[in-house]
Amino acid sequence: MKPLGVLVSGYGSNLQAILDACAQGVIAGRVACVISSNPKALAGERAQKAGVPYHVLPKLSAEERDDHITAVLKNHDVQGVCLAGYMRLLTAGFVETWWDRLLNIHPSLLPSFKGLHAQRQAIVAGVKVTGCTVHFVRPAMDEGPIVLQATTPVFEDDTEDSLSQRIHALEHRIYVQALRWYCEDRLIIKNERVFLTP
Ligand code: GRF
Repeated sequence: MKPLGVLVSGYGSNLQAILDACAQGVIAGRVACVISSNPKALAGERAQKAGVPYHVLPKLSAEERDDHITAVLKNHDVQGVCLAGYMRLLTAGFVETWWDRLLNIHPSLLPSFKGLHAQRQAIVAGVKVTGCTVHFVRPAMDEGPIVLQATTPVFEDDTEDSLSQRIHALEHRIYVQALRWYCEDRLIIKNERVFLTP
């Protein structure tokens, strides 16, 4: 069982999907710890309910904070780190430490619509299809080798909320699938492209 660390800041529905998939044996991994930048995150309740060690980050500078996160992750022997709605920018040093072991989920078809409010960006741009992306993390925000994407149409009467709900459901599926492959050591990165071994 590969020990995973999950970084959160909010609602934690992706965390829940990962916890459930680990509990059901869908992922050959276990959530070894959950770290939150927000003491009020509902994700904290989810972690505690699942009996997973839960850490709230103290107020620190970015470098100190990321060193603290790495110390907690190493303390739990973590071998893979999942960003699941973690709302702080990570330092280049942290990304370097966890290179090719750090995954993120983003609610758009990257490289389109990086940053905040990706669903709103998609509606404003008038695209007819959007979706979500699981990728390995690189120092630039929402960049890095893409593991998996899923798509949904954008309907004419979609609001940011209705579109977000559909994307969320897709996120839970592809994050679990990506982690399933990751924990089975099936993801190979070559020239910043991800390949799935048989
Ligand atoms: C998701 O939309 C994810 O793509 C983005 O943050 C949101 C987190 O949602 N990075 P949740 O906290 O997992 O419900």
